[in-house]
This record gives sequence, structure tokens and C-alpha cells, in this order.
Amino acid sequence: MPDLPYRRIAIAGGSRGIGAALALALAGPGRELWLCARDGPPLEETARACRDKGAQVRCHSCDLSQPGAAAAWLDEMGEGRAPDLLIVAVGIFGGRPDGAVVTPEAVMRQVIAVNLTGALALAEAGALRMRCAGRGQIVLLGSLAARDPLPDAPAYSASKAGLACYARALRADLAGSGVGVLLVEPGHVETRQTAQHQGALPLLMSPPAAAERILRALDRGRSSMAFPRRAVLALWLLDLLPAAWRAAVLARHRFSVHNLAPPAPPVARGPGGED
Ligand SMILES: NC(=O)c1ccc[n+]([C@@H]2O[C@H](COP(=O)([O-])OP(=O)(O)OC[C@H]3O[C@@H](n4cnc5c(N)ncnc54)[C@H](OP(=O)(O)O)[C@@H]3O)[C@@H](O)[C@H]2O)c1
Repeated sequence: MPDLPYRRIAIAGGSRGIGAALALALAGPGRELWLCARDGPPLEETARACRDKGAQVRCHSCDLSQPGAAAAWLDEMGEGRAPDLLIVAVGIFGGRPDGAVVTPEAVMRQVIAVNLTGALALAEAGALRMRCAGRGQIVLLGSLAARDPLPDAPAYSASKAGLACYARALRADLAGSGVGVLLVEPGHVETRQTAQHQGALPLLMSPPAAAERILRALDRGRSSMAFPRRAVLALWLLDLLPAAWRAAVLARHRFSVHNLAPPAPPVARGPGGED
């Protein structure tokens, strides 16, 4: 893993999956990790593992799709303090259930509220604080679904396309401010998200392998990256095909989604979880 210069690191979605793998990869002496998610127990479990590696960890349970939640979380760092690195790995998957024709409206609304509205609100709150500090790095977790929209998860694809567009706007807005923006567009990574995906998962990758690629991209100062490379290449080739051939290939990758009910609303808590 590259030795990155960040000390105060905030990871939204740091309780599981890619966010937790990033937290573990970044944990070590001298590092302050601020982790947030809705569900408390997995958050505490990841925090414990990070503390075992020598990091100081603070957990915060909140629903980032709620107005004001993102700013309230970052405010816990203290007046005038900003994270050196903010990773927006928050996200939910949703789509067409088995036997249904469309994605339920409630699922679509929830996906947009978390993946787009919640992610943007957090990135804005982070960017504001970093801009004042004159430095910082934001990482946004998009998806290859933004490049090749999924007919069985249209709202998810739209949320990630929106996030990709936002990343470009934010990067341009922050140019010269000392704050960088990295957009990460992964293919399939073995997490709760892929467990909901009922269908083929080509080129499935482990969360630590995904985290390693993301940290390497940060080390290289990249502003966008997508992986795995073979999936990126396959999508590029697919785009060259006549529409009917492309549709025939994509038809073999249709899937359904086991949509999850949202967890119970987090209990409001003040600053806590410090080791
Ligand atoms: N896995 C893949 O194949 C894949 C591919 C491309 C892109 N991505 C993207 O990568 C990111 C991480 O996904 P993952 O695969 O690691 O999924 P995951 O294992 O389900 O983790 C998602 C994280 O986000 C948190 N979260 C979800 N909704 C939240 C909310 N409203 N407020 C606060 N925290 C919330 C979850 O905790 P709680 O549920 O406890 O809140 C969890 O910590 C997502 O943006 C996802 O769309 C994943």
C-alpha cells in the first residue's frame, strides 16, 4: 500500500464493503479515522479492527440522505477543522426485483436520495471546509454503471452518472484551491451490494483489492479511475458494436435485485466512539 500523507480521514460508508476495506488499509499509528454509516454494530466492528492497527477512530451513526446530516457529522471535527481526505463510499443498490417489470418507486427514490443527494451534500460540506483550509482530497465512489447503464438498475445507473457529472463540476470549481477530486468507477466488488445482485458478476473483485487500486490512484494524483481494466476495455469495445449486437450481448447480463429494507433510523448521538 502506498504511504499517503493524510492524517485526518473521513470515510462515509466506512462500516462495510469498499469503505471498510479503505479504512483498514489506511489505519495505522498517527491516523485519525472518522467513520460514518447508519447501522452501529458493523461500524463499531470496523472501528475495532482499525484501532487494533493503531489508528484513533471516531464512529458516527447517521443517515446521510437526511438534510443537514453530512454537515453535522463533519462539524464533530471541531470549528475550522477539515478532513485531509474525505472518502464518499456511501451508497445503496436497488433495481428490478425477480419477477417484476420495473424498479419500485420507493426503491428509486431511496437510491437517488442516498447515492446522489446524500453523496453530493457530503462532498459539498467537505469541499467547503477543505477550501477554507486551503487543502484536501475528496474521493467519490461512482460506478461503471455510469458508463454502461444497467437496464435492471436504472435509478442506480442514473445516480452514478449524476455523481460522475458532479465530480467534473466540483473538480472545475475547486481548481486552484488546493483541493483535489478523485472519481472512482469500480466494476463488481464482493460486498453487500453484489450480494443483492441476482445474476452473473463477471470479474468480481475483493474489497481489499479494490481499496488497493483506489489508494494507488490517490498516490498517483489521479482525478478519475475505473477498474478492473478488463471490464473497462470490454465496455469500450461494446460501444463500437452495432446497436443490435450490443443489445444481444447485454441481454446475457440481465439480472434482478434483492432490494433491502432500509435499517431502522440511527439513534442520535453526540461525538463518541473515541478510543
Ligand atoms: N460493490 C460493488 O460491486 C460496487 C460497484 C461499483 C460501485 N460501488 C459503489 O461503492 C460504494 C460502496 O459500496 P459497497 O459495495 O462497499 O457497498 P456496501 O458494502 O453496502 O457499503 C455501503 C456503505 O454505505 C453505508 N450507507 C448506505 N446508506 C447510507 C446512508 N443513507 N447514510 C449513511 N451511510 C450509508 C452502509 O452502511 P449502513 O447500511 O449501515 O448505512 C455501508 O457502510 C457505493 O457507492 C457503491 O454504489 C460498489
